[in-house]
Amino acid sequence: MSIDLEDLELLDAVRNFALEQEDPMVEKFKASIRDWGDQWIDVERVQLPVAGFLDDALPRAIPQTRGLLEIFGRHRGRLRWEQSYKKEDGVVSAAMLAAYGFAEIIGKQGPFVSDRIRAGIGIYGLNIDYPRHQHQAEEVYIVLAGSAEFKVGDSAEVTSRAGDVIFVASNTPHGFRTCDQGLVIYYLWQAGDLRQISDFG
Ligand SMILES: [Fe+2]
Repeated sequence: MSIDLEDLELLDAVRNFALEQEDPMVEKFKASIRDWGDQWIDVERVQLPVAGFLDDALPRAIPQTRGLLEIFGRHRGRLRWEQSYKKEDGVVSAAMLAAYGFAEIIGKQGPFVSDRIRAGIGIYGLNIDYPRHQHQAEEVYIVLAGSAEFKVGDSAEVTSRAGDVIFVASNTPHGFRTCDQGLVIYYLWQAGDLRQISDFG
């Protein structure tokens, strides 16, 4: 398979979504996403049931996030859906493993290859507790739909909803709990190993 217009549509949507954000925390990532690279590789399509949650999430989008969610919805069958953790790791619950997944669009492993920036979508179903974890890269989440109680570093827990930006500095513990709406997020990582498995210690 070779790169086609649909792939480029997804790349543009993912890049433009970040570039259009005015939040100063997203600003920090814009140079990396502008110069993500120039290499594309064909990635294996892998499906996870949680991708179906995009249909449930769409009515909970806001005008600023709906376009990107719709594009992910159309592309979901073409993506490589992943999970970072396995049951044997014992770091997240069985409930979370049954109802979470992410798909990377820009990153070390492609499809748009970058050693500067990691960008993609994460889906977390209802009532999931993602325990506190940390990684070297700094990160932003932008909520596309749904909501969660986010806890970052020593700050108080904050409820974030569609359109909200959550910044996580390098090596800062963070986690969240979804409620009965679930959560769809857009994520960016930079400045660190872009495929590091988070540390739950
Ligand atoms: Fe993170």
